[in-house]
Amino acid sequence: MPKLKLPKPPLPGALTPPPKRPGTTEKTGPRAGAKQSGISAIDWIDERTSLSGAARWMMFRKIPKGTNWFYTLGSATMFAFLSQAVTGVFLAMYYIPDTAGGAYESVRYITNEVFLGEFVRGMHRWGSSVMIILVMLHMGRTFFFGAYKYPRELNWVIGVVLLILTYVMGFTGYLLPFDQRSYWATVVGVNINGTGPLVGPYLNDFIRAGPDFTQSTLARFYSIHMMIVPGLLAVLIGAHLYLVAKMGTTAPPWLKPEKKGDVDRERA
Ligand code: HEM
Repeated sequence: MPKLKLPKPPLPGALTPPPKRPGTTEKTGPRAGAKQSGISAIDWIDERTSLSGAARWMMFRKIPKGTNWFYTLGSATMFAFLSQAVTGVFLAMYYIPDTAGGAYESVRYITNEVFLGEFVRGMHRWGSSVMIILVMLHMGRTFFFGAYKYPRELNWVIGVVLLILTYVMGFTGYLLPFDQRSYWATVVGVNINGTGPLVGPYLNDFIRAGPDFTQSTLARFYSIHMMIVPGLLAVLIGAHLYLVAKMGTTAPPWLKPEKKGDVDRERA
């Protein structure tokens, strides 16, 4: 079947210089200058990297008819992740898990003394719940729209890993303030984990960093929470988005092809 060649999508308005009208002079002034230097800077980078091709491929995609607000849940999850990353970096500037008491004290300091500390901590704390709710809604959307079927199975599998990693973020983050609630909630969580068949007890020893709950447990949770899992999440979100751009999004299940063969042509 011949491959459909789509016309190139136009550049966004902000990047296209307006055509010169006869008899008019070039716009001057700080705004025109700033816009022009923005265009020149982007041109400069693009001439050397050809990145605009990749950006067009990623952003200017055909989307199926009937695409609706439910399709924004994946991007909403991604923005929740980015917000967690940014607020987490600021919290890490003040959080000191040198000892259990030190961790508790630094969180108290962030909440009560640091400028906007309570706000940033609140964003990170509430943001974690928001991300978990969004990722579950997004998974529900892809399930009920049948987006897990051929040819998107691999993206579903990557999604499942993303879901588990999101839960791991919530679980490991909960211990970090090291107050009574986080301590005992984590003890319960770790014990539940230990009841898992075969690997449960070994996994427990690994996450506790030994047979008991110690100072090393906190260090281990912190490294998993702020380095290992966010790194994995970032890489897998990249792979997830690559596959979304490559496959295109699934049409809503109630949409029928207008002419026989329309669906196959879209896939070609
Ligand atoms: C950190 C978590 C996640 C992020 C940031 C994310 C992001 C996205 C984005 C931006 C899209 C394209 C827009 C959309 O359809 O909403 C998408 C599509 C998709 N996601 Fe996710 N996702 C995540 C987790 C998951 C999970 C948990 C699953 C399922 C287990 C999943 C399965 C899919 C599938 C199958 C598609 C293709 C949808 C289609 O073709 O219509 N994702 N994801």
